[in-house]
Amino acid sequence: MLARAKTFALWGLEAVPVTVEADVSPGLPSYSVVGLPDAAVNESRDRVRAAIKNAGLPYPQARVVVNLAPADLKKEGPRFDLPIALALLAAQGVLPLEALEGLYIAGELGLGGEVRPVPGGVNMALATLRAGPRRLLLPVATAREAALVEGVEALPVQTLEEAIAFLRGEAELAPASPEGEEEAEAYPDFADLKGQAKARRAAEIAAAGFHHLLMSGTPGSGKTMIARRLPGVLPDLTQEEAMEVLRIRSAAGIPSRGLPRRPPFRAPHHTVSEVGLVGGGAVPRPGEVSLAHRGVLFLDELPEFSRRALEVLRQPLEDGVVSIARARASFTFPARFLLVAAMNPCPCGWYGDPERACTCSPHQIRR
Ligand SMILES: Nc1ncnc2c1ncn2[C@@H]1O[C@H](COP(=O)(O)OP(=O)(O)O)[C@@H](O)[C@H]1O
Ligand SMILES: [Mg+2]
Repeated sequence: MLARAKTFALWGLEAVPVTVEADVSPGLPSYSVVGLPDAAVNESRDRVRAAIKNAGLPYPQARVVVNLAPADLKKEGPRFDLPIALALLAAQGVLPLEALEGLYIAGELGLGGEVRPVPGGVNMALATLRAGPRRLLLPVATAREAALVEGVEALPVQTLEEAIAFLRGEAELAPASPEGEEEAEAYPDFADLKGQAKARRAAEIAAAGFHHLLMSGTPGSGKTMIARRLPGVLPDLTQEEAMEVLRIRSAAGIPSRGLPRRPPFRAPHHTVSEVGLVGGGAVPRPGEVSLAHRGVLFLDELPEFSRRALEVLRQPLEDGVVSIARARASFTFPARFLLVAAMNPCPCGWYGDPERACTCSPHQIRR
């Protein structure tokens, strides 16, 4: 018998509707997944089998084919576990086929049947506003995120058994409710800064006009201190900006409890890779520049960053977006941030200091 469940694949910041088709037919027991699955999707077989068995339900001793349609879209990650398991159960008559019709399902399964969070709760909820039912069956933390999008019913499930009881009509699920605003991130205050009137004024001007800022000074002069205080004097995010930030975070798999109110602050270490900085992967995920969208990107010890990493900052600095091209599609992530960079004037740090001599050679300083 053939059963279908609706779910989403994550495609950059977009959630793209995907239909899971499960066909169980007589024959030698086998299991195959088709439709451009990656390794994590292929491994769903073992998780799904263990979860179904441990829930005390029948696992088909037959030929099983799972198709993820559209077949030309790359599918990543364990987010298809739950819809695959439920479609398999429906194909065996454990669940009524119609039960899977009116909603989208996503979630990773543990071997014991527990449902684990997946990235993109917000992105999936936004996608339901455009088409299809506005109901989602999701892991608890993912449902909480999805509920931040108005007009969407996000039903949280903790275990496979709970999902089955709900779909059979034996139990009710209370829709997740938005928790409102996220607790404001407490950025440190400029009140802690003594002196440094010039640098402080520069930071205030940068914050007021959203201008980029480069600080050069001897070690211990307070550069890092000032940079960490800068997001504290930026205005709150508007509703629209908060939604943009939330959408990027959700796609990157960073859990949010509520709508962010304060601008983000990101300070990647100087060993960050190019992909970590601007985003990437087979199906690209947003990188640090996008996670800093509408907030501050702080690059401490700027000269230590690799040349490539600094080169790839060019596009986001000029256009406010990052475009990542892949063979099948190109992705554009928003990346409008305030760049704050700090550096020592020379490798030893003391060049130009009135009290301590610089020990670097002229060649080192020029570099
Ligand atoms: N102007 C200042 N007012 C108060 N504390 C300061 C000031 N400058 C430096 N400090 C102290 O020195 C420490 C080192 O400063 P830091 O910002 O890390 O320097 P840098 O990044 O320029 O090397 C800080 O944690 C802070 O406690
Ligand atoms: Mg420092």
